[in-house]
Amino acid sequence: MQAWSRAQHDAGRRIGLVPTMGYLHEGHLALVDEARRRTDAVVLSIFVNPLQFGPREDLARYPRDLPRDRSLAFSRGVDILFVPSVDMMYPPGSEVRVTPGETAERWEGAARPGHFTGVLTVVAKLFHLVQPDLACFGQKDIQQLTLIRRMVHDLDWPIELVAVRTVREADGLALSSRNAYLSADERRQALALSRALLAAHRSFCEGEREAPMLEKHMRRVLDAEPGVRVEYIAIAEPESLRPIATVDGRTIVAIAARVGSTRLIDNINLAQGLG
Ligand SMILES: Nc1ncnc2c1ncn2[C@@H]1O[C@H](COP(=O)(O)OP(=O)(O)OP(=O)(O)O)[C@@H](O)[C@H]1O
Ligand SMILES: [Mg+2]
Repeated sequence: MQAWSRAQHDAGRRIGLVPTMGYLHEGHLALVDEARRRTDAVVLSIFVNPLQFGPREDLARYPRDLPRDRSLAFSRGVDILFVPSVDMMYPPGSEVRVTPGETAERWEGAARPGHFTGVLTVVAKLFHLVQPDLACFGQKDIQQLTLIRRMVHDLDWPIELVAVRTVREADGLALSSRNAYLSADERRQALALSRALLAAHRSFCEGEREAPMLEKHMRRVLDAEPGVRVEYIAIAEPESLRPIATVDGRTIVAIAARVGSTRLIDNINLAQGLG
């Protein structure tokens, strides 16, 4: 991988990287489109990273379909599909990890201990293997994006990061590989997440600036759907993801919830809404 990347750079070509866990959907492919617009050679990586899954999470049943991913990726203009094995990424004896700071302790980090250490470690490895000039990440995983920005900034890596707007189904559901777990009924219940975000956006547009009021509107929408169990509602400042009491257009509103046994996340920034 590094030899290919060196050859690209020697030929004056800029490399764009799109890291994924596969089971590709239009969200991933929007990242590919963005990388293609901005660079000359696009690498899409597929790696279901065991390090970022908790012991009781869904690593074993995570959806996979490499033949389908391969044809989707190449028909969208990906130049290299990079699919390392677990042994290759974490051979026996591998022990060094990238540890995030305080920003990883709340929200997803609190719900999933060790998750962001796993994410930052694999992204660090992918960056060093692929040597990209630019990498694309989705806004759907807002805390991940925030922490990768911090890592690149704090460790002085010369990599440009591009955030891509969340791609949604026509009815508002954010695309996610884990949507494959949902039954038809759960798929319908899952719409409560985007509906609650929309309620917060509407309330903001009508002039509401108090976070507890926005949260109340969101809870009302979420509580109306008995199949949905909320893990957190975050109303937070965009760079640090610290909770804030008085919102503005840049404020992030995020939800994590379980629908049946499937854990879903979604977020908006208040001015933008569902987009
Ligand atoms: N709906 C979406 N729109 C835009 N980007 C997305 C979307 N869903 C995922 N991404 C981005 O794709 C990249 C790879 O994510 P990943 O492979 O975990 O997919 P995923 O759909 O989030 O899967 P899962 O739900 O299992 O986490 C990340 O940068 C993520 O933010
Ligand atoms: Mg994901």
